[in-house]
Amino acid sequence: MAKRFQITLAGESTRFWATPELTLLRASLAGNGGLLSSCRNGTCRACRCKLLQGEISYLIEWPGLSAEEKAEGWILPCVAQARSDLVLQRP
Ligand code: FES
Repeated sequence: MAKRFQITLAGESTRFWATPELTLLRASLAGNGGLLSSCRNGTCRACRCKLLQGEISYLIEWPGLSAEEKAEGWILPCVAQARSDLVLQRP
């Protein structure tokens, strides 16, 4: 069975599953996760969420977030992949 991680949206009843190869946005779209999107390449920030628990990696070197935003836990799900179960919070 393929490895997959559970993605939970904090404060909501929404949960979806993500395999390591899928971006969190694509996993959300496939699982009715309800994440917003526009550019889907890490520049518009429409998908921005806060990572409360878990680990991710990025498809691109520096997604459209400032160093401060990254330090605060903000991520861009359209270019991020799960590396563990995650808890996300929408802004
Ligand atoms: S959809 Fe544009 S940054 Fe994620």
